Amino acid sequence: MAILAELHQEHMNLKRLLDMLERKVERFRSGTHPNFQLMSDVVSYVGGYADLHHHPREDRMYAHFRGRDAGLDAKLTQSEQEHVELKKVSTALFDAIEGVLHDASVIPMEQLVEQLDQFVTLETNHLNLEEGDIFPKIESVATEQDWQQVDAENPAPADPLFGLKQADEYRDLYRALLEDNQ
Ligand SMILES: [Fe+2]
Ligand SMILES: [Fe+2]
Repeated sequence: MAILAELHQEHMNLKRLLDMLERKVERFRSGTHPNFQLMSDVVSYVGGYADLHHHPREDRMYAHFRGRDAGLDAKLTQSEQEHVELKKVSTALFDAIEGVLHDASVIPMEQLVEQLDQFVTLETNHLNLEEGDIFPKIESVATEQDWQQVDAENPAPADPLFGLKQADEYRDLYRALLEDNQ
């Protein structure tokens, strides 16, 4: 069950960034303008990593465990729909922040605060659905044979640099968020 452990670790990393982003959103709401470049980098990392790598891998794992349990199936459907929704939300938010950064669009700051807040809330709720509901349920129905098959069909990304690049980017972002006092 390497895949489950890896997805879980990714949840922990994403959660740490989302928690820090949430604090920035609170400060933004109370009038402190954030470092928009940093906001853009975080949304691009969290959204991009989830949409391009993390969610597709989950979708493939979920497909394997369909049909085992009606309750689990309903949650899998919900989660797959959220993957589609989250992609739209993260793309729209990234475009909005980039617009502010490049003066291409002038959207009211209150609207940007709400979009950021919605992004953090949806991503966090989604992580909680998977960590609190779906992953434990999958663990309870899965056999050793299931994990051998799912792990074999979903190896870690073939590009060995991918993981390293992601890890470097994650560390840099985490540090930048810690050091940012806006
Ligand atoms: Fe997910
Ligand atoms: Fe996930």
